Amino acid sequence: MDFKVRPASFRSGTVTVPGDKSISHRALMLGSVATGRTEVSGFLAGEDCLATAAAMRALGVRIEQLSATDLVIDGVGRDGLRAPPGPLDLGNSGTAMRLMAGLLAGQPFDSVLTGDASLSGRPMNRIIRPLTKMGAVIESDCDGTPPLQIRGGLQLKGIHYDMPVASAQVKSAVLLAGLYAGGETSVTEPAVTRDHTERMLGAMGVEVAVDGGTISMVGGQELRGNRIPIPGDLSSATFIILGTLLSQDAEIKIENVGVNPTRTGVIDILKAMGADIRLENTRIFGEEPVADIRVRASRLTGCDVDPALVSLAIDEFPALFVAAAAAEGETCFSGLEELRVKESDRIAAMADGLRRLGIAVDEAPDGATVRGGDFRGGVVDSYHDHRVAMALA
Ligand code: S3P
Repeated sequence: MDFKVRPASFRSGTVTVPGDKSISHRALMLGSVATGRTEVSGFLAGEDCLATAAAMRALGVRIEQLSATDLVIDGVGRDGLRAPPGPLDLGNSGTAMRLMAGLLAGQPFDSVLTGDASLSGRPMNRIIRPLTKMGAVIESDCDGTPPLQIRGGLQLKGIHYDMPVASAQVKSAVLLAGLYAGGETSVTEPAVTRDHTERMLGAMGVEVAVDGGTISMVGGQELRGNRIPIPGDLSSATFIILGTLLSQDAEIKIENVGVNPTRTGVIDILKAMGADIRLENTRIFGEEPVADIRVRASRLTGCDVDPALVSLAIDEFPALFVAAAAAEGETCFSGLEELRVKESDRIAAMADGLRRLGIAVDEAPDGATVRGGDFRGGVVDSYHDHRVAMALA
C-alpha cells in the first residue's frame, strides 16, 4: 500500500484510541485457559490480536465477538486446550508467537507456530533457551527463527531464569509455561518491563509474587474467568500526542489511556524535551491504571534520552525519533539495540525515513543522534512496520 500525507495540524478536541494490544493478546490467552467465562471489553481487533484469537479457536476455545471491542471467551480450563488441526499462523505478531510458545510448551499435544516474512526473521532463541531449561522441546530454523515446532506430552519443571534481555515477551513466555510446570518458576528481569501478564494472572486468581525485579509463581494453579476491561493503548496515543505537540496552539485530550508505570517512559522522555503533557483523572480500570491525557502544542528541545527509560518506552522510539527531528538541537538515543529486532530494524528504518525528509541522523549500533531541523517532502519506506509508518506519517 502506498499513501500520501500532506501537512496538516491538530486544533482541539477530545479523542479516544483503540484498546491496548499487549493486554488484548493476554486477555485471549489467559481467558482461554481459565475456568468459566471471561468478558473482555475494549479489545483491539487488529490483525495481531485477531491472529491470537484464531489460534485460540484452533486450540478448541469458543470466543464470541459481540462487537468490534467486546468478546466473550468460554474458558476451557488450564488443561482443556485441544490439538490444533494444523500450524498456527501468528501473522506479524512477536507477542503472539513468544507467549503462545510458553503456553503450548507444556501441553499434551504437538504444535507448530508460523508467521509472516517479518516474524519469520525474528529471534526466538530468547524463549527457546529458558523453555528448554524447563524441559520443553522446541525446534526452530537453524538460526533460531520461526517456524517453531513444539513437542507435546512433556512434563515441565519450574526454573529460575535470569533474563539476559529486558523483554516482557520472554518473561511472559516463561510464566505461562510455569503454569504447567512442577514447582516454582521465577524470572529476574534486568530492567522493568510491562507487567500486564502478572497483573492479569493475579486478577484471575493465580498467586504471583513480585520482589524487586523477580517474579515467581508455583505451577499447577487454576485461573478463574473474569471481566477484563482493556484501556486505550498508550502506544497508539503516542501518535496523537506527537501530532498535538507539533501543531501550533493545539490542545487535545485523549481519554481512558493506560498509564501503567511500566509503559509511561514516552511521557517522561517527551516531558524532558519540554512537552506539556498532563495526566488527569488517574484511576484504576480493571487491573490497570488509566488516565485522560491532556497535551498542548509545545516547543521541544533535544536531550540525551535516559537509557534507563528504554524498556518503559520500547515501542515508542519511532515516534520519539520524529519528536527529536522536530526539536531544537540534538537528541541522543542509546541503549536501543532491541529496536533492531522488532517488526523491522527500527533504528535503520527511522534513520532512513528521516534522512529522506531532510533530517540529519547519525546512526550508532545501539541508537542514533538526531539533529532537529525542517522537514521537506519525500518518499519514505515503512519497511512494512506499522509503527514506522505511523511515525513517518
Ligand atoms: C510486548 C513486549 C515488547 C513490545 C511489544 C509488546 C508485550 O516486546 O515491544 O510490542 O506485549 O509483551 P519485548 O518484550 O520483546 O521487548
